[in-house]
Amino acid sequence: MHVITCLEDLRRVYHRRVPRMFVDYVESGSWTESTLRVNRDDFAAVRFRQRVARDLSNRTLASTMMGEDVAMPVGLAPVGMTGMQAADGEIRAARAARDFGVPFILSTMSICSVEDVAEHAYRGFWFQLYVMRDEDYVHRLIARVKKVGCRVLVLTLDLQVLGQRHADIRNGLTVPMRLTLPNCFNLAGKIPWGLGMLRTGRRSFGNIVGHVDAVQDTRSLMSWVGEQFEPRLDWERVSAIRREWDGPFVLKGILDVNDAVRARDIGADGIIVSNHGGRQLDGTVSSISALRAIVDAVGDRVEVMLDSGVRSGQDVMRARALGASGVFIGRAYIYGLGAAGGAGVRQVLEILHNELDLTMALCGEQHIRNVGQHNVVA
Ligand code: GLV
Repeated sequence: MHVITCLEDLRRVYHRRVPRMFVDYVESGSWTESTLRVNRDDFAAVRFRQRVARDLSNRTLASTMMGEDVAMPVGLAPVGMTGMQAADGEIRAARAARDFGVPFILSTMSICSVEDVAEHAYRGFWFQLYVMRDEDYVHRLIARVKKVGCRVLVLTLDLQVLGQRHADIRNGLTVPMRLTLPNCFNLAGKIPWGLGMLRTGRRSFGNIVGHVDAVQDTRSLMSWVGEQFEPRLDWERVSAIRREWDGPFVLKGILDVNDAVRARDIGADGIIVSNHGGRQLDGTVSSISALRAIVDAVGDRVEVMLDSGVRSGQDVMRARALGASGVFIGRAYIYGLGAAGGAGVRQVLEILHNELDLTMALCGEQHIRNVGQHNVVA
């Protein structure tokens, strides 16, 4: 066993352990993957200012996100089908986040249901909402989310239609996995994954199956989105959902200043600057390059966070320097989950914490609160 020193090491183990279909689902970007690439490239292009001869003996990364104390400004982003990456994946990831002291956002498209995660991990996690055509279902889901004690509602706005990811079509992505010949060959090397999946009863979309009228069976993600997601979702509807939720309300998938201003005007408490990890609009700008202008426009009234492209503590530092209160990781934590379950998620968080702490120190800062634009080269 190789020593794990960075996320890339975990990523390699993840690729070995988890069936190809689910690895491809996580790793893919839409179409030419140019948004996926620019997310990484633009992070790398933000250069730090190295400052020296400063007292570094009293460092802390403790901060807050949406009024919640966090051990570092990093949360776990909503990722569809996390429970197919490892058995009971959402429960394991949520526990790891809680134990570390960072937020966990459960996806509407999760395998473990909101009730399940509340019962087996903790109450008070954040919930990510997709708006479905079935309005009653949306009301009922919001009521379920309230009932189990979720603290923050995160409404995703950039997936009314699904960006095409070629591999998902080739693989015939379904939940649970359909046993085609190539899938069976691929499964042969994934025995621990398979045993885990055999042991758990959680193998379909827990928030949906049995809760949406006329949907009792499981389907592919692509047909789900095509059939169930609300293509008419507009600001009026967003505003109505805002009124339905009395807790902190966050809009995810904002990349344009004009939309950030609309978000502020309808009373959002937070926004997540995001291009959905390069999985939706191919050929758009990176989240990190869109961040500063959005912070300048609405940052005095709305908490601005970011996802898409974060793979290291250095990236967390970059986003903080450019004005994000915190960031969310998706692929990065799935690497740990697929490689080693909940312990792997913990390891991801430890690696990021260590990288962020040392990067901050080498920039001459002691406290994450003091990190700002002065830490990067303009
Ligand atoms: C869903 O959120 C996806 O990106 O597949």
